[in-house]
Amino acid sequence: TGRAVVKGIGHYLPERIVPNAEFEATLDTSDEWIRARSGIERRHFAAEGENTSDLATAAARAALDDAGLTPDDIDAIIVATSTPDLTFPSAATMVQSKLGMRHGFAFDLQAVCAGFIYALCNATALIQAGQAKRVLVIGAETFSRIMDWTDRSTCVLFGDGAGAIVLEYQDQPGGTSDRGIHAVDLNSDGRFKDLLYVDGGVSTQSTGHLRMQGNQVFRHAIEKLTSAAETALEKAGFEGKDVDWIVPHQANIRIIQGTAKKMGVPMENVIVTLKDHGNTSAASIPLAMSVGKARGQIKEGDLIVTEAIGGGLAWGAVVLRW
Ligand code: ACO
Repeated sequence: TGRAVVKGIGHYLPERIVPNAEFEATLDTSDEWIRARSGIERRHFAAEGENTSDLATAAARAALDDAGLTPDDIDAIIVATSTPDLTFPSAATMVQSKLGMRHGFAFDLQAVCAGFIYALCNATALIQAGQAKRVLVIGAETFSRIMDWTDRSTCVLFGDGAGAIVLEYQDQPGGTSDRGIHAVDLNSDGRFKDLLYVDGGVSTQSTGHLRMQGNQVFRHAIEKLTSAAETALEKAGFEGKDVDWIVPHQANIRIIQGTAKKMGVPMENVIVTLKDHGNTSAASIPLAMSVGKARGQIKEGDLIVTEAIGGGLAWGAVVLRW
């Protein structure tokens, strides 16, 4: 009757910060347009030679520190990413090696912006199955590497970064604490693959660039996110009014506001980091959780619903007691 409980959290953001105004020099865009339509003001971009596994490792170290653990204590590493350093080996095995970890197992998981939700679900399943007691769940991305810098409708929206959580099996005899992951809800619908994709890959022998019909994705987002969040809450036996924090994928402030409104949760109970990070895809949720905790917003015992949608389309939600 135990649960997968959050034992520690941390994040890493590359040093270079790019404000919206920097795009005005090369594109027909403006700080005002980007703020008003997306809610983004600045984003971090990784330095040359700084790759996804570097960001992931830095976030992992911060999460281990927060948990008071060392790599010896970890059984498995999952990295949610669509921008791994190499085709293979996985970014997760690179993190394992950088941490000096010589036991356990590590693998990547790709569900684009919903990647961290999928990874949390997989980590929970590994823990429930008895395959791992502690799992490092990381979201890490370098989306700056797949931007088309001539496409103003996409390149102003994304950023680089990483966040990590240590999930630990905790027995809860007698139900004295209900901390941990309560329910998940995962979905995808490949019919919508053309709304958001990268036009290259291994099998086509090119890296490709991100292509998005933003307004089409927008039309799906609020309804699908609300539905996933409400389904996960229902599975867990909670309702919108029980929620202390929504931690949404940080893609667009209007999607975040629309989803909160539809769920009947006021914006005071929503963690928003979009302004400073942009859309960091699979990294956005652990980044927002880590910053939300550091700000003093998220506290032990809070009921959290976290949700994301992205390429696939793939979307989902997780309900957890922090
Ligand atoms: N600066 C100025 N004008 C711009 C810019 C820009 N950076 N980008 C687009 N425009 C123009 C368009 O060309 C268009 O002009 P037109 O009317 O002359 O054709 C106009 O602005 C309106 O464009 P829309 O795309 O309709 O604008 P919208 O209000 O939908 O906002 C945005 C665009 C911000 C992309 C929004 O649709 C959005 O956030 N969509 C969802 C994105 C998302 O959630 N993605 C999923 C996660 S990401 C992942 O999985 C990797």
